[in-house]
This record gives sequence, structure tokens and C-alpha cells, in this order.
Amino acid sequence: MRDSTNDLFEELDPEPRLLMGPGPVNVYPRVLRAMSTPLQGQFDPQFTGYMNQVMSLYRRVFETNNQWTFLINGTARAGIEACLASLVAPGDKVLTPVYGRFGHLLNEISRRVGGDVVSIDTEWGTIFDANILEETIAREKPRVVAISQGDTSTTMKQPLKELAEICHRHGALLYVDATATLGGNALPVDDWGIDIVSAGLQKCLAGPPGSSPITFSDEVADILLKRKHTERGIRPADAKDGEGPIIGSNYFDLPMLMDYWSPQRLNHHTESASMLYASRECARILLEEGLEDCGKRHVLTSNALRAGLTAMGLTLFGDADHRMQNVTGIFIPKACGDGSQVRHEMLHDFGIEIGTSFGPLDGKIWRIGTMGYVCRKSNVLRCLSSLEAALRRNGVSVPAGAGVDAAYGVYSDAGL
Ligand SMILES: Cc1ncc(COP(=O)(O)O)c(C=O)c1O
Repeated sequence: MRDSTNDLFEELDPEPRLLMGPGPVNVYPRVLRAMSTPLQGQFDPQFTGYMNQVMSLYRRVFETNNQWTFLINGTARAGIEACLASLVAPGDKVLTPVYGRFGHLLNEISRRVGGDVVSIDTEWGTIFDANILEETIAREKPRVVAISQGDTSTTMKQPLKELAEICHRHGALLYVDATATLGGNALPVDDWGIDIVSAGLQKCLAGPPGSSPITFSDEVADILLKRKHTERGIRPADAKDGEGPIIGSNYFDLPMLMDYWSPQRLNHHTESASMLYASRECARILLEEGLEDCGKRHVLTSNALRAGLTAMGLTLFGDADHRMQNVTGIFIPKACGDGSQVRHEMLHDFGIEIGTSFGPLDGKIWRIGTMGYVCRKSNVLRCLSSLEAALRRNGVSVPAGAGVDAAYGVYSDAGL
């Protein structure tokens, strides 16, 4: 293997890739341009104006009137940690329904912040029945239920409206990790009554990883403020601490971040200005297209891909009624072993990245993402024709052209 330290002084020159895995995906060129906008400091009135714009834009993206809608600097799990570290006090009961890898992540983070965490599981590739969720919540009486809207590892999507109603009937708050779904799947936060949500940029919003939009209700804000302990070096003389236990993380302390994002502008971290510009542009692109139209584009594109894969003789993974609109799982044909050679050829011969999965699905399924900027007809056709060639080279007989023809069929049925 070539020693990459020989290239230390060469310019970056990455191979062009079409990122059709489960994320990250190719970034909208407008977002890349926004990231090269000159920086300002976070006290500059023009920059605080941009921060306020970001709050307004993400209220629209989350379809909420929540005042507390802002960014956490860091990848999507930074948003998850901020929400759970601030909301879950040591000893608080948390329920994490696990239907894939990211349910385990929510479980682990909740335990790390001292929650008394209980979990229920369902087979990967399925979702939870609402009755089971209600029985468990009634029995366990959690203070917080933490779940992913879409678990990217299994490509499944859990309906949330009913779950929010169940949580509220039993006095629990609902936290949702919408990293994999926001922008490509409906998430009307106020209409569905979700209490607190976090997301990431690198999936349907087609931005770079490194910023996590979050939103939470006034009721959640009141609970968080009880744990407010302002950092000594920046405390105003009249600062009052809450009576609740101090939050175990400074970086992810939501009450301090509320002061930072509010007109008070109490200093906290140095805002990651380039990521704020990126987040702003991602939201603008999504809202210009319209949430509904963007959702429809994801449905159409995934349908075209799925029709193509099926026509090639492949079997789609998971409960057909509860798939995410932006990622598709397919069983790896036996002839391809764990599927890594086909992924290698897709990447190195065709420049297309697709993924496998984790845990029990590692080497069992491939995952193909059609999200954000990547979510378009030309990419579906490129992916299907390249996959056909790679499959044939790996001993799978595929009817020539069937995948591409079936995808074309879906587009022509839609008048496109
Ligand atoms: C559903 C879900 N949650 C959380 C994460 C973690 O995101 P990050 O890697 O940006 O921290 C991911 C990443 O793929 C995800 O798909």
C-alpha cells in the first residue's frame, strides 16, 4: 500500500465519488460555497443576525414554533448528547426502544449520563407495535422515551405521532433522533407533539457532518433551566443557579447554550462559523424546494431504485410498510459472500460508494442511500447499471438492463 505520508505536501485531490451509502452524501455545491464565506466572531452583530436567521430557518425545517431551535457544534451525536445529558438527570428513568444500532447508541448515551435505562428490542428490520410501546411505558413509567425516527442501520422508520400521544398520556417526554430522516421524511414537530429533537446535516440535508440542529419545547426548557449552573468565569452578578443537579457536560449544557443563543449572548464556545453558514444554506435549499416536494422527491427516487433492484432479482430488506424514504436495504446475494468485493468494485471501478450495515446485518445487507443532492434520477440509473455489472462479475446472473428499465418505468409512470 502506498505510504500516504509521502504526499504530505501535495494538494488534496480526492477521487470524485458518488456517495450513495447511508450517509454522508455529496454536499450541495451551494453549501460548499457558503462554507468559504469569510468568518466573523460570534459577538459581531451581523453574525448574531445570522445566528437568528438559522433559528428561524430551522423552525421551518422542524415545522415548529419552538423558540429554542438552534445548532449544536459537532456531528449528529453531539446533538444527541446535548439533549440527553441535559434532560436526563442521574437516576431518571429512560426507555430506549431499540430497533437497530442507533437505539443502542441512545441507550448507551442515556446510561453514560446516569439515567436508569430500560430497553425493549424488536428484530432488526421491523418496528415497534404501538400497543407494545404503550404497555411498556405504562409499566415502566419512564420520564423520557428516546428513539430514532429512522434507524439507518436497518432502514426502518418508526411512526411517531402515536408514540408522542402515548408518551404524554403517561407523563413521559419524547426525545427523537432525526439524524437520518430530517428533510427527506415528514417530521412536523408541533403537530406530532414531539418534545425534543436533534438531527445532523449529512443525510437528507446534504451538508457536511459537523453541525446538529436541535429544537425543544418551552416545557422542556423549564425542566432544563432547573439544572442551570452558569460557568463561573462568565457569570453575570445576578445569575441564579437552578436547584437541580448540575449537567455533567459543559460543552453540551443546554441551559448555557440557551443563554448563548438568546439576546443575552452570554459567551460559551467559539461558534463554528463555517458550519453555521453550511447549516443555513442547507435549510435554505430545503425550504426553497419545499418540505413536501422534497419528501416526494425522496419517495419517487427510492421507489425507482427499489423497482430497479427488484427487477434485477435482488430482495429488499425489512418491513415494506415502514421503510425510510431515503435509504434502501437489500440482501446480499449468496454468491457475493459478505458483499465487500462488490462494494470495492462499485467504489474503485465506478466511483460509487454504497454501504453494508452493522451488528447482525454486517455483511448480510447492502444499504443504498438516495438523499438530498444525490437523490436524483441520473444517480439511480448510474447506481443500478454499475451494480448490474459488479454483480455479474461476482457470479450473480442478472437480466441485462432490467434494473435500469424498471427504474425508467417508475419515472415515466410519474410523468417524468
Ligand atoms: C440515526 C442516526 N443517529 C445518529 C447518528 C450519528 O451521527 P454522527 O455520526 O453524525 O455523530 C447517525 C449516523 O449515521 C444516524 O444514522
